[in-house]
Amino acid sequence: MMHANRYHIPQLQPLPPSILVNRPAALSSFYPFNAVDVYYYYLARNALWNGIDLLGLSPGDEVLMPAYHHGVEVETLLRKGLKLRYYRIGADLQVDFDHLREILTERTRCLYAIHYFGFPQSNEKLSAFARQHQLLYIEDCALALLSGSEEQPLGMAGDLSIFCLYKTLPVPHGGLLVMNRSVGRRPAFPDPPDLLSTASCLGHRLLDNVGLISGTWPYRITQEFSAVARAVKHRLGRPQAQVDSDLLQEDLLPVGISQLTRHILRRLDLEAVKTRRQENYRLLSSLLEGVVERVFPELLGDVCPLFFPVCVEDKAKVHRELNTRGVESVYFWSKKHPDVPVDMFPEVNRLRDHLLELPIHQGMSRAHVEYVAEKVREVV
Ligand SMILES: Cc1ncc(COP(=O)(O)O)c(C=O)c1O
Repeated sequence: MMHANRYHIPQLQPLPPSILVNRPAALSSFYPFNAVDVYYYYLARNALWNGIDLLGLSPGDEVLMPAYHHGVEVETLLRKGLKLRYYRIGADLQVDFDHLREILTERTRCLYAIHYFGFPQSNEKLSAFARQHQLLYIEDCALALLSGSEEQPLGMAGDLSIFCLYKTLPVPHGGLLVMNRSVGRRPAFPDPPDLLSTASCLGHRLLDNVGLISGTWPYRITQEFSAVARAVKHRLGRPQAQVDSDLLQEDLLPVGISQLTRHILRRLDLEAVKTRRQENYRLLSSLLEGVVERVFPELLGDVCPLFFPVCVEDKAKVHRELNTRGVESVYFWSKKHPDVPVDMFPEVNRLRDHLLELPIHQGMSRAHVEYVAEKVREVV
């Protein structure tokens, strides 16, 4: 059945057009933008690809990798010829240190950790483990931009850290590489991005405002408009440089960030972004108490949440029915990478099968959050 919904809430923050003409401000007061050695790329995977070379990892070196991952970071490391040994992540989404110790070998050179949805792993323990075993430490903050633990912003503890910009901020693309270890070298100067792909991602971010403000039907019209634009692009024979995809497009890996993305970045109020995300998260958590299994009911410390994770019995159904009602959820990390031994990680398999993410981005008002809660109540 086709619903006429009050809103269509996209999973990522739309770009309000007014931001394009805001007065520019200095990004440099906010980590990771103010890091000493920071490099801008088209995507976070590009940052990882280029950073690996700087760290001096070589084909055949072993990396300890969490069994719960997106898949594209795994693919990036595998294409570098690295050998991945997967470690357990508990149902609480924390690193299992006993398992880490079990799978260490004399070829292990690096520890890779992911901060899920902005919620920190213990950097203190991870850094100590890496030091004790003389490993390099890569901190994956693709889901944790602007987030911090009690001690410091996430991304400061690793020898190298990566960030994804377009997941938290309304930009067409963007990834950052931060080198915390001094290696005396800089990455190669990146290639410029394709203008048409940048413009089309920007168009989508702008059009997403329509659904947020006026609901289903105007949103559907924008979708038709996008489909026509895609068809025209296809006819022109210009493949899209994809964003938010689990496909590794190897030709994109040397590509940097656009001037347009930098223009938008300088016009964002990052403090306000973080505050609004925290407020929306807390509100949704209180509205969903007793309705659905909340993965992290509390928002502790300095966390900047990316989404609101919940566990549901029938993930596909809830995802589909929310979408019909105008709420885009993220069908989070359902695919298992073929490099990972299938039956070794039952806790991770459960997360893959049941975890769904709800939007809480800074474009959402109190009314939007209440709308999400209302729709979740209807479908679970
Ligand atoms: C944990 C993690 N690392 C890295 C990436 C790669 O980010 P990007 O899409 O910017 O390349 C993702 C993408 O979702 C991710 O979830």
